Amino acid sequence: MNKRRFLKNILVLGLGAGILPNAIAKSYRQIEKMTSEEAATYDEFWELIRKKYHLKTEYINLENGYYCIMPEEILESQIRHLRELNSEGSYYKRKNYETEKKAIIKRLAKHAHCGEDELVITRNTTESLDLVIGGLDWKKGDEAIMALEDYGAMLNHFRLQAERHGVVNKTISVPLNPENDEEVVKVYEEAITDKTRLIMVCHMINITGHILPVRKICDMAHRYGVEVMVDGAHSFAQIPTSMKELGCDYFGTSLHKWLSSPLGCGFLYIKKEKIAGLWPLFAEDKMEKSNIYRLNHTGTRPVHSMQGINAALDFYEWLGAERKEKRLRYLQNYWTDKVRGIKKITLNTPEDKKRSCGIANVAVAGYTPEELAEILFEKYTIWTVAINRPTVKGCRITLNIYTSTEELDNLVKALKELTKIR
Ligand SMILES: Cc1ncc(COP(=O)(O)O)c(C=O)c1O
Repeated sequence: MNKRRFLKNILVLGLGAGILPNAIAKSYRQIEKMTSEEAATYDEFWELIRKKYHLKTEYINLENGYYCIMPEEILESQIRHLRELNSEGSYYKRKNYETEKKAIIKRLAKHAHCGEDELVITRNTTESLDLVIGGLDWKKGDEAIMALEDYGAMLNHFRLQAERHGVVNKTISVPLNPENDEEVVKVYEEAITDKTRLIMVCHMINITGHILPVRKICDMAHRYGVEVMVDGAHSFAQIPTSMKELGCDYFGTSLHKWLSSPLGCGFLYIKKEKIAGLWPLFAEDKMEKSNIYRLNHTGTRPVHSMQGINAALDFYEWLGAERKEKRLRYLQNYWTDKVRGIKKITLNTPEDKKRSCGIANVAVAGYTPEELAEILFEKYTIWTVAINRPTVKGCRITLNIYTSTEELDNLVKALKELTKIR
């Protein structure tokens, strides 16, 4: 980041949060001298980051998987944009919208390591992936492979394709503690037949936090001529997500999750040569088949959310992608290391630390997931979410960069106490 931009960010970030800019600047200078591993444990810096959020004091929020709340400066930017938009009226849409949208796409494409002509801004992962699932020219008997641990909305859309076009959906289950990447790849490979067209794979499974070896799955699938669509709802801005490195055909994410953009923002990446093969959900004016905008007509929408992506990217770039990832992994390990191996406690998250980041899932024997979530909230004021799925039963614990180790100590204490009650 150049000096001018850095100084601008310091000013915006510091003043916006009501924190003395020099406190942040001083702390930032410290972490700049550190490796990202060292910065991950430098609590003084993260305590200042925490001050940028308006957190509820009534409970500890360990359910940041639904969406991540915005720090002050991103929120302020969205409010500012809404005000401007409400005075400009259609002037913005007619004169500036397309230019600004393209500039945001350019920034996102840089982070995603893909072409600007391969990415469109959507409302969320659901819209992104459903555009692909519903946009493919399915033939009766075509097969698609997905996992039991995948997100419900996408599984539902595949079910619809089965009812509508006679697509055959094959469901596998991802092993939680694979010996190696190849074990996961093999599970997908064994489901492939000469009718298989598409594999859907989560980059990070939302209910367990499991990071899958997407590149290896793509390489394997492509050897069979099968396309891969990646559900990146939880990976973009949490862990590295380079389209070049993943090698996938389609990738959808929600920016209101780990990028902390305003609600209602996501993106869809489509490999250039795959764009022409999709039908749009809403028709656009006549365009070249290979033009990705052909798939992106959604009518008038709350563009102040889209405008807020800029502030979210500023914040993310200032924080540093690697620093953020390392901090989230550090915090997850901070609490899981303290409970793993305790009698009656099961962690539904891989033991291999490279296979997870900020999300983990815990179960306590004697409690259903719903009971555990309720007791954690009612008795210990810890907000989580119950996951009761065929292969995963427990409470999902999703941190954010504002999460403190003290809050995690409370969780650990609560879990230990609960093992003694039932
Ligand atoms: C793995 C996964 N995919 C897709 C989605 C859908 O995200 P959105 O509601 O933002 O479209 C979620 C939401 O939590 C998710 O966890």
